[in-house]
Amino acid sequence: PYPRYAALRDSAPVHYDPELDLWFLSRYEDAAVAVRDAGRFSSDLGRWSNITDNPFAPDQRPSRPLAAVLRRLPSPRILLSIDPPDHTMLRRKVSRAFTPRAIASWEPRIREVTDGLVADMAARGADRPSVDLVHEFASPLPTVVIAELMGIPADRRDDFKRWSDGLIDGLLTSGGGLRSARSALAISWFFTKTVRERRKNPGDDLISMLVAGDPEEALTASEIVAFCVLLLVAGNETTTNLISNAVNALFTHPEAADGLRADPGSAPAIVAETLRHDGPAQGLIRMTTTDVVFDGVTIPARSRVLALIASANRDPRRWPDPDDFRPDRDHSGHLAFGTGIHHCLGHALTRLEASIALETLYRRFPGIAPAAPPTRIDSPVLRGFRTLPVRLA
Ligand code: HEM
Repeated sequence: PYPRYAALRDSAPVHYDPELDLWFLSRYEDAAVAVRDAGRFSSDLGRWSNITDNPFAPDQRPSRPLAAVLRRLPSPRILLSIDPPDHTMLRRKVSRAFTPRAIASWEPRIREVTDGLVADMAARGADRPSVDLVHEFASPLPTVVIAELMGIPADRRDDFKRWSDGLIDGLLTSGGGLRSARSALAISWFFTKTVRERRKNPGDDLISMLVAGDPEEALTASEIVAFCVLLLVAGNETTTNLISNAVNALFTHPEAADGLRADPGSAPAIVAETLRHDGPAQGLIRMTTTDVVFDGVTIPARSRVLALIASANRDPRRWPDPDDFRPDRDHSGHLAFGTGIHHCLGHALTRLEASIALETLYRRFPGIAPAAPPTRIDSPVLRGFRTLPVRLA
C-alpha cells in the first residue's frame, strides 16, 4: 500500500472516495489532527452516522434463538468507540490495570510464556524445513500472555484461545459475523462468571485489578466484561502482526538482524521502527461532528474520515528518508498507536511483548531465515501476515 499512500500524499492529501463514502487523510499533519481532535472527529460512529451496517452476510444470519439472545445483551459502551465525557471516566477507571508498575511486574511471566513457546517449537523439531512462525509463535504468544495476565486457569486456555480466535477471525473475514457473534457470546459468559468469582476471591491478575477499587470508581460487571473482550480484539491480532512484521523487517534488513544478534538490547528500537515503518494498524476511522477545512478542502459534518496513520508514519514532510528501516532514528511522534485521548492503552505491554519475542527468538535460533515467501492477511486496515514460513536453525 505504501506507493499508493505516497501518491495520495502528493496529489490528493484530502481525498474523497464516493463509492466508499469515505474521506482519506494521508499526510502526517492532517491525520494527526483527525486522530487527536476528538471534538471535531468523533469515535462514536453510530451516534454521528445514519448507517446501520448489518454485520451478517445474507447466508450467515444467526438462527432465531441466537439472534434473540444477541438482542437482549446489554450493548456495552466500548472504550474505543465513545467520546468524552463518557470516555474520560471509563478510561480513568480501566487505566489502573495498565500502570507502568503493573506492566513491569508482568515481565517475568511474559518471558516465561515466550520461553515456553520457543521450547515447544524446538521440541517439534528445530530442523524442520519450514515452520510457520505465525501459527507456532506470533499468534499464540499474545493470547497466552493475556490469558496468563487475566489469571485464566490452564484447563480453560484452549477454550479461551478458540473463542478469542473466533472473535477476531469473524471480525476480519467477510461473512464471519456469525462465528464472531457465537465466540463473543461464549467469551462474555465466561468473563461474566470470572468477574463474579474474582469479586469473591480477588487475586493479583488483571481482572481482579478491574474489580477492585473504591466504590465510586467501581466498574460494573458488564463494563468489565466489555473491556476484557476489547482487550482481546484490540490486543491479540495487532500484537501478532507487530511480531510478524518485525521479523519480516529483520529478514529484509540483515544489518538490523546482525545488530539484534550482537545486542539483544536493540530489540525495543527494532520494534519501534517496525511500528513506524510497517505498523499493524493502517488507518483509524472517525466521523466529523462539524465542517472541517483542510488545505482549502471542506469535509462536511457527519462525514466518515479514515486517518491513514501508516501513511502519516511514512510522510517525508515529517520523517527523513521515511521508507528506510532505521531502528536508530528518533521515533517519537509516530501514530502507530494513535494519539490523544484514545492513545493505545496496551502500547507499553505490546512493545514489551514484541521486544521479548524478538530477543528470545534470535537468542534461541540465531540463524532463523525465511523458508518460503510469506502470505499477507487480507484486510485494508490491518497489516500483517497470515503465514511466515521460516527455517529455525
Ligand atoms: C487503542 C493500536 C496493542 C488495548 C488503540 C489505538 C490504536 C492501537 C491505533 C487507537 C484507536 C483509535 O484512536 O481509534 C495498537 C497496536 C497494537 C496494540 C498497533 C499492537 C502492536 C494493544 C494491546 C492492548 C491494546 C496489547 C491490550 C492488551 C487497546 C485499548 C484501546 C487501544 C483498550 C482503546 C483506548 C481508548 O479508546 O481509550 N490501539 N494496539 N492494544 N488499544 Fe491498542
